[in-house]
Amino acid sequence: MARPVRRRDPDMPADMPTAAGLTARVRTTSVAATAALGERLGRVAAAGDLICLWGELGAGKTQLAKGIARGLDISATVTSPTFILMNEYAGRLPFFHVDLYRLADAGDALAGGVIDDRQADGLTVVEWPERMAGYLPAGRLDVRIEGSAEEARDLEIVAGDATYARYLEAAR
Ligand SMILES: Nc1ncnc2c1ncn2[C@@H]1O[C@H](COP(=O)(O)OP(=O)(O)OP(=O)(O)O)[C@@H](O)[C@H]1O
Ligand SMILES: [Mg+2]
Repeated sequence: MARPVRRRDPDMPADMPTAAGLTARVRTTSVAATAALGERLGRVAAAGDLICLWGELGAGKTQLAKGIARGLDISATVTSPTFILMNEYAGRLPFFHVDLYRLADAGDALAGGVIDDRQADGLTVVEWPERMAGYLPAGRLDVRIEGSAEEARDLEIVAGDATYARYLEAAR
């Protein structure tokens, strides 16, 4: 069952720095397990949230994003938006799936409309966020995926502030 979404836990300071307590580590040994993890993350997403997916080509960012979409009750097939920067899907919340791989730098990303007012009402997931490093807000969830080909994947999930801590519980 979906857990209630809470924007802010009054018992935790909003400016709590990223620390060991705000990191979760998960290993997946199949595409299905990676997608299931994404689904758990999607279930706790709230309007205005940002999730950055870090990892090499083929790490599994898009597989995780497909699972996140499932967690937002999106039935449409999520494909990589590599050629069009951002895809939008309707679900429990609007889902903005961004892939910056083909961009040279943050200037291109910003000019390409990667930051959009409508994102305040939905969940934004960014593949290749390094393309706009320096413009990423501290309030975000980072997921780093290590591993490739048919190996297991090690995922490190870091909550940038306490409002994102609920994702860590959902991931475990
Ligand atoms: N445990 C796993 N989790 C995720 N993907 C896996 C796993 N094991 C194998 N794979 C395979 O790895 C590939 C991951 O591809 P995916 O498109 O998700 O990568 P990506 O990180 O989005 O790459 P890109 O940077 O090109 O967008 C898929 O072919 C998938 O079948
Ligand atoms: Mg991808």
